[in-house]
Amino acid sequence: MWQLVRATGVLEPNSAYAYALLCRDFSETCLVAEVKEDGIEGDLVAFVTAYRPPARPEAVFVWQIGVHPRAQGQGLGRRLLLELLRRPAAADATHLEATVGVSNTASARLFQSVARELGAPCEILPWFTERHFPSPEGRAPPHEDEPLYRIGPLRRRNA
Ligand SMILES: CC(C)(COP(=O)(O)OP(=O)(O)OC[C@H]1O[C@@H](n2cnc3c(N)ncnc32)[C@H](O)[C@@H]1OP(=O)(O)O)[C@@H](O)C(=O)NCCC(=O)NCCS
Repeated sequence: MWQLVRATGVLEPNSAYAYALLCRDFSETCLVAEVKEDGIEGDLVAFVTAYRPPARPEAVFVWQIGVHPRAQGQGLGRRLLLELLRRPAAADATHLEATVGVSNTASARLFQSVARELGAPCEILPWFTERHFPSPEGRAPPHEDEPLYRIGPLRRRNA
């Protein structure tokens, strides 16, 4: 995951420790996709890290989702999110959430596509803004606004 984050060229890199921690303590809501072709069997081509926010237990919050550039645009990101919602640890969630940087068209389209697939509305709410992020040495803010995409209520098969 740590390497794939760098390969995307878009995701904000975090420490390797952060990914190890997520995969140990939030493994029920973190998924990876591997290629099974000869020669590259086991290559990790996509991942999603998510958790149930303690303050909004009805939600599954996606921290990061990444697809290797060579595998993008083939439906993998959407499949990962739909699979995440099918996992037992997310099965009772009524909302899927993520923050999306205002310039990240691919990510915005991904979550809107999932909302459409699920037949659920997608609200876009103010969440993290530039002022929430550090601006070292008085330079321009290093991080764009990240509004919250909140998809739901989800119509679940067992509801
Ligand atoms: C965002 C990302 C995960 C999407 O994964 P993906 O597997 O390429 O997306 P999918 O093939 O499942 O496509 C899902 C939808 O997004 C759209 N989409 C995907 N990439 C797009 C792009 N670059 N520009 C515009 N739309 C795009 C698809 O057309 C599809 O919409 P549709 O169902 O209306 O046709 C992938 O582009 C990526 O890893 N980007 C870099 C990391 C990132 O920005 N992560 C999200 C922030 S946490």
